[in-house]
Amino acid sequence: MSGAFYEHARLYDLMFPGGGPAVEFYSAAARRRGGSVLELGCGTGHKLIPIAAGGQPCAGLDLSPDMLAEARRKAAERGATVEWAQGDMRAFDLGRTFDFVFVAANSLLHLHEAEDLVSCFRSVRRHLAPGARFAFDVFNPSVRLLASADGVRRTRESFLDPDRGHVSVDVAEVYDAPAQVTRGTWYLSTATEPDFVVAPLEIRSIFPQELPLLLRGGGLRLLERFGDWPGGPFAADSPIQLCVCEAG
Ligand SMILES: C[S@@+](CC[C@H](N)C(=O)[O-])C[C@H]1O[C@@H](n2cnc3c(N)ncnc32)[C@H](O)[C@@H]1O
Repeated sequence: MSGAFYEHARLYDLMFPGGGPAVEFYSAAARRRGGSVLELGCGTGHKLIPIAAGGQPCAGLDLSPDMLAEARRKAAERGATVEWAQGDMRAFDLGRTFDFVFVAANSLLHLHEAEDLVSCFRSVRRHLAPGARFAFDVFNPSVRLLASADGVRRTRESFLDPDRGHVSVDVAEVYDAPAQVTRGTWYLSTATEPDFVVAPLEIRSIFPQELPLLLRGGGLRLLERFGDWPGGPFAADSPIQLCVCEAG
């Protein structure tokens, strides 16, 4: 239910330009491991292109042809070689293994059913070379924040689009507790073009206790769970769950 959101790949990059520490974390982890790298839900290549530019063989898989088209354009601009593939991370077969596999920026949370997550982890397991690592980051759900989603449309942020000018971003969200999914609608507007994008975005929560169980169901073992990008320990109020896993 989030595909339409990713049809606007160029706007996505303008809306979410940050993530410097995440780029550094994944680049350093890939370098440490050495060898080939696969990113699932690679989007426009924000994390993967810098790794490829560093000389490691890289592959990126994403469901959205629009995000992949922008990734291809950016990689060519930077002179980085990446093998891009359109596919669904819930079940994929690239026919070879990798030394480092990662899923960045909550992309895993587009998989809403526990079965989908386990199926994705099984596919990841099949793509891990001996000694490989699998890393991902998802937000650490706060029940207080989740419960405060009241369906009311509010302005969340704004950004500058060189073509359109000032773009404001409104979001209306509700939390579907039994599904563990926050169901949102995002509205992008300029002064002259109100709501030129209206797109649903639905994001699951993975709670701390279920995370290792889901991984285990897919044949993976959680080695480390950090609570922030510098690698601080995971705690109740950590912003993220930054996980490093191995086959097992
Ligand atoms: C939040 S964006 C993150 C993009 C990129 N990893 C980054 O860090 O900027 C989520 C990405 O996951 C992709 N995605 C969503 N569901 C997917 C699925 N089932 N299989 C593969 N990619 C998927 C979307 O198309 C989108 O590009």
